[in-house]
Amino acid sequence: MSLAGVLTCSAEVETSDFDDIKLYTLRNKAGTTVKVTNYGATVTSMVTADRQGNMADIALGYNDVSGYMNAVDKPYLGAIVGRYGNRIAKGEFNIDGIDYKLATNNDANHLHGGVIGFDKVVWDAKVVGSNSVAFHYLAKDGEEGYPGNLDINVTYTLTEANELKIDYLATTDKKTPVNLTNHTYFNLKGEGEGSILDHQLMINAKGFTPVDSGLIPTGEITPVSGTPFDFTSAKAIGRDIGEKNQQLEYGLGYDHNWVLNKGEKDEQLTLAATLYEQSSGRFMEVFTEEPGIQFYCGNFLAGNLKGKSGKTYVHRGGLCLETQHYPDSPNQSTFPNTILNPGEKYKTTTVYKFSTK
Ligand code: BGC
Repeated sequence: MSLAGVLTCSAEVETSDFDDIKLYTLRNKAGTTVKVTNYGATVTSMVTADRQGNMADIALGYNDVSGYMNAVDKPYLGAIVGRYGNRIAKGEFNIDGIDYKLATNNDANHLHGGVIGFDKVVWDAKVVGSNSVAFHYLAKDGEEGYPGNLDINVTYTLTEANELKIDYLATTDKKTPVNLTNHTYFNLKGEGEGSILDHQLMINAKGFTPVDSGLIPTGEITPVSGTPFDFTSAKAIGRDIGEKNQQLEYGLGYDHNWVLNKGEKDEQLTLAATLYEQSSGRFMEVFTEEPGIQFYCGNFLAGNLKGKSGKTYVHRGGLCLETQHYPDSPNQSTFPNTILNPGEKYKTTTVYKFSTK
């Protein structure tokens, strides 16, 4: 079934051959459109203007549901990942003396929620007002090895200020780790328009969490200053990526968590990153309440994936800016807590704001 389609008002629905899978289009007065499907609560497209007003789709994606279902190399294009985004070492953790063993799907480790994570399930969906779609999923106690029934709501809103706002809300009936994020790959020239190495990235972070060869954090927080990981001032992603550096070798490029500079209150919406592409003039700002951001520059895109418009996604043809808690936090006592207790609310917001320069 095709995920493309002509729609006529702000928040609209297109049905598919799979009865329960739908595609929703959010559109604002600036002409920005964002499409989301309830398969994986996935962003399938983000069409924004360049500085001349020409529109292009800046999010990588497939043009049919089977692309998402059968993604062999599992790039998680546009999806909500969870219950725990990124890695948990050996898929193991302990809460209150109880050992839990998760599904392992990344060598010996657990990645992005396991074999059937939130990116591969069908969510309930509801159009809310004229510019929001709310997705709901109940992850069962024991799913992928996690304790507790986790009730999750993810709401996408496209504002007239040209922002895509993602609100996450979850509750549980047993203590469980939770770390939700969105895995959109951006290319501000347009999807399929080559590599992102010339994009200028700023990350508002003085430190990052170095990893071992399996991309599991060592537990340290290393200052970025004087390293290729220093994005405190905007620089081209490709500028230092070729430097001889063990962390870049482990990540095969950038695939790390940055520790965001926060204000006085940890959980406030603050600027995490900016991304600029000179030829189009597209500029994107990322704001989040989360303490970290995974900057992953598409190192595993190998040039064997054809995108929705038939163009090949080359090596580093898209980059992710995944707002999150730090990887492997359930096993790292010095990292901010990721265990949600019954009676508490997991509540967090991330905003991607589009403009031109
Ligand atoms: C991870 C990468 C992984 C990619 C796609 C990113 O969030 O950090 O290591 O390859 O997702 O699975």
